[in-house]
Amino acid sequence: MNSRDRFLKAAHLEKTDRPPIWLMRQAGRYLPEYRALKAKYDFITLVKTPELATEITLQPLKRFPLDAAIIFSDILVIPEALGQPYFFRDGGGIQMEYCLSNKAEIEAVDDSAITEKLNYVSEALKLTKKSIGNNQALLGFCGSPWTLACYMIDGGSSQNFSRTSEFAKRNPKEFFLLMEKLSRSIIQYLNMQIDAGVDCVQIFDSWASICTPSNYHSLSLQWIKTIITGLKKPIPVILYAKGMNHCLKEQLKTGAQILSLDWTISLNNASAETNNQCALQGNLDPEFLTTDSSTVKEEAERILKISESLKGYIFNLGHGMLPTAKIECVETLIETVTNYRYG
Ligand code: CP3
Repeated sequence: MNSRDRFLKAAHLEKTDRPPIWLMRQAGRYLPEYRALKAKYDFITLVKTPELATEITLQPLKRFPLDAAIIFSDILVIPEALGQPYFFRDGGGIQMEYCLSNKAEIEAVDDSAITEKLNYVSEALKLTKKSIGNNQALLGFCGSPWTLACYMIDGGSSQNFSRTSEFAKRNPKEFFLLMEKLSRSIIQYLNMQIDAGVDCVQIFDSWASICTPSNYHSLSLQWIKTIITGLKKPIPVILYAKGMNHCLKEQLKTGAQILSLDWTISLNNASAETNNQCALQGNLDPEFLTTDSSTVKEEAERILKISESLKGYIFNLGHGMLPTAKIECVETLIETVTNYRYG
């Protein structure tokens, strides 16, 4: 079974010889070959230059026998295309050039020509697809409207995005307008990714946990559902909502076929909760990759064993790789998963 088939079968709840595995880097400074490129170019240049973005996308695949590649980019390319550039704070975290704070600023968000502005992502996807062919699955991605609004209204990384949370409650009409603009833009963006050859897309709702169970639907899930409904082709969609594993049933109603878990729920409970109606992904606490090989192997085998009874499971971390992840731990993890066989 080749890697792409294994990934797509697991996504469609079909039996595989073992779970497919891929890893999201995000704070992916653990690879020296990535750090070498970062020393030469700034992050935005890497993201906006299709040849460089392709090279970075392929770096983990050259080192490890992964089953899927996630395109090197960032969720913040959407705010940037809407006229709100981002950069990195000294000492870590994201800073937007300005924050959205009133009606006039939200009305001024320019959602025209999104796919033209983000054509560099399409080019990087096509180059990557050309290189991997049908050997590995190619994953596209985007941030959820809620998570992007958090960065756009708070103006950058924050502990609890309280400005956004307050803005949404005090200014429901203006917030609605921003969510409409974001959802429309994201639909065009994901459809562009589908045209460029992605097999699957992941929607990152990294700040879903700012919502309460009662406003989660109106602030976030309804917009994710709008996006999934707007896709031109029925490709599998992975939804990752960090800190919201107690709301898996609600997440399923968005139409996502795969729910990506953090590490705060057991895989058994997640599968009972979703009644084997969707594939599950993730669950390994990324901190394990900062320990040692035998600890990683033990934890990976524990998860693999539970995953035997699931209809579809994709091995992944509960979040991105930590900058402190050790390469030997990553190696052990991938070896453990790729050598495993379902009985
Ligand atoms: O594996 C991959 O390389 C996939 C590409 C990818 C990146 N970011 C590259 C990146 C993906 C899928 C993302 C998603 C993303 N970006 C999310 C959702 C996932 C999550 O972590 O919850 C969010 C919230 C962002 C916004 C963002 N970009 C943050 C918070 C940061 C870290 C800032 C910091 O200083 O801690 C980034 C930077 C970023 N995006 C890096 C990478 C490889 C690290 C850049 C570097 O320092 O070299």
